Amino acid sequence: MATEPLLRVEHLCQYFGPLHAVDDVSFSIAPGEVFGLVGESGCGKTTTGRSIIRLYDITDGSIWFKGQRIAAGTLGYRRRIAEARRRMRGASAEERAALSAQIAEERRQLRAAVHDHRSVRKDVITRIQMIYQDPIASLDPRMTVYDIIAEGLRIRGQHDKQAIDSRVYGILDRVGLTREHAHRYPHEFSGGQRQRIGVARAVVMDPEMIIADEPVSALDVSIQAQVINLLSDLRREMGLTVLFIAHDLSVVKYFSDRIGVMYFGRLVELAPADELFLHPLHPYTRALLSAIPLPDPLYERDRRRIVYEPRPEAEDAALREITGGHFVRCGAAEVPGYLREAEA
Ligand SMILES: Nc1ncnc2c1ncn2[C@@H]1O[C@H](COP(=O)(O)OP(=O)(O)O)[C@@H](O)[C@H]1O
Ligand SMILES: [Mg+2]
Repeated sequence: MATEPLLRVEHLCQYFGPLHAVDDVSFSIAPGEVFGLVGESGCGKTTTGRSIIRLYDITDGSIWFKGQRIAAGTLGYRRRIAEARRRMRGASAEERAALSAQIAEERRQLRAAVHDHRSVRKDVITRIQMIYQDPIASLDPRMTVYDIIAEGLRIRGQHDKQAIDSRVYGILDRVGLTREHAHRYPHEFSGGQRQRIGVARAVVMDPEMIIADEPVSALDVSIQAQVINLLSDLRREMGLTVLFIAHDLSVVKYFSDRIGVMYFGRLVELAPADELFLHPLHPYTRALLSAIPLPDPLYERDRRRIVYEPRPEAEDAALREITGGHFVRCGAAEVPGYLREAEA
């Protein structure tokens, strides 16, 4: 990638006690790119999105937005410091000097991580807006549509009634709602309309990036395409960068430039969208793909669903590049096999 990524997620870990909801996930998104993140329910997609907008103090790793570190965890530093201290015992004077130097350096980096994590300004984070999976749960039932959409502008310090009016009415129009809708409450709307309100609330902030967390999963199939089209139009008009989260590949297929596949907190495959559909390599991705119904009934009749049978990972498992831009989580010894499959 020639351009500096807009978002860079580096070795992100988010642990909830013993549960490793996100475990060493790395990816980056270029300006204007749509990055699809897919995987079954519970694999850590929402946690990844919430970590990016700093709803958690992440356990480990770093998140960079426009070259600025906006979140950083410390577990890795603390572990390495503890390990170096352990090795100090019984070490020779020479080894101890090297270990002390290492500890000092880890401490320095840990302090920098804490400093960066704490000193991020709120207005940087509002450049990233989230659209939620469940428009009913994410819209305050006691607020009018107007106030829901205006809230972020007011928090940002906008108090000019006329300016807010024109922003809110303009956005309502843009997402396919009307001025008359502004003074009603969320429960008066259909599912699709509610999600339009969710989209309006996000884009009114004029963000650079949108995290759309399964924005159509709760909607009727007939409505899904309308909301996807709206997002697609807005992204083009506003030059948005999008992290699009979904639990199945059919939704992200036409919308994403690249796709990352998550399984149990880890990224198991990452590739340009076309490449992923043409040459899915990881068995889990193949299983996900086999679950997509085909539009042609003749083919659909013969579609064979593959069930993923988890197998133990190689000791040295990591996301490894097989062909240009196509990564699979595997051990070094598995690379030649994947390479043959990719070129088949
Ligand atoms: N705040 C939390 N506290 C504890 N566990 C959580 C929390 N949020 C998510 N989890 C757990 O983390 C895992 C990943 O959840 P999530 O990121 O919501 O998955 P997905 O969005 O892919 O369905 C699940 O096992 C979930 O139960
Ligand atoms: Mg989720």
